[in-house]
Amino acid sequence: MTALLATEHLTMRFGGVVAVDDVDLNVADGELRCLIGPNGAGKSTLFKCLTGQIKPSAGRILWRGRDITGLESFEIARLGVGIKTQVPSLFDGLTVLESVRLALRREARERVARARAMATLEQLGIADLAQHATALLAHGQRQLVELAMVVAPAPDLIILDEPTAGMSAEETARAAHVIRALNASHAIIVVEHDMPFIRAIAKKVTVLHQGRVLMEDDVASVLADRRVQDVYLGKAADASLKVIA
Ligand SMILES: Nc1ncnc2c1ncn2[C@@H]1O[C@H](COP(=O)(O)OP(=O)(O)OP(=O)(O)O)[C@@H](O)[C@H]1O
Ligand SMILES: [Mg+2]
Repeated sequence: MTALLATEHLTMRFGGVVAVDDVDLNVADGELRCLIGPNGAGKSTLFKCLTGQIKPSAGRILWRGRDITGLESFEIARLGVGIKTQVPSLFDGLTVLESVRLALRREARERVARARAMATLEQLGIADLAQHATALLAHGQRQLVELAMVVAPAPDLIILDEPTAGMSAEETARAAHVIRALNASHAIIVVEHDMPFIRAIAKKVTVLHQGRVLMEDDVASVLADRRVQDVYLGKAADASLKVIA
């Protein structure tokens, strides 16, 4: 079966640094895939390649079998890919509902757009925030509103870069719940660092290390793997795996 999104020999070099090294990734329609790895593993670089923010040095990116290597971010978005970066994307002068409406600007029918925006807020459990100014939201709430803006246009695939960055343990657990629920209707790729989150998501995991795929398996097998423990525990700054190893 043709993958929804695939890479073939994807490689990104920065001078002498090979940040992404010959990566073959296959994400199926409807899948929820976690992409993890220690600091410097190449996660963000892979994310930027997949979302058109940077052009890979070599290899290909395929969308439903079609070569999309080198497309710009807006072109990739138009294919039906929702992208949530770590860069804040909320305008402070708007309410939550207006923000999500803005994400639906290609829908000219006001009633349809507002209904869809409201339905998305309900889906993410933040309908009560609809009339709140985004400027006054807590960090975790802002993250959910940004996610609502990505989800509202009903993309076939959602790609998220460290969605739990800066969240409390409670917000992280809630984000994991929300993302699992969204997976009922969207394929999702999550680039993430947070191990409790990966465990709560409990789906197929691809582990990157030094730009390469170290292993790819279900979450239990990945967390039990000696090589994965070694590359995480080898980093003093990253004690997150110790909690669950
Ligand atoms: N624009 C760039 N120029 C030069 N080197 C870069 C650039 N971006 C990333 N790198 C290098 O590529 C490697 C992979 O970095 P990347 O940011 O993709 O890792 P990461 O897995 O996202 O790490 P982290 O968990 O710290 O976010 C690192 O060695 C990094 O220094
Ligand atoms: Mg990163």
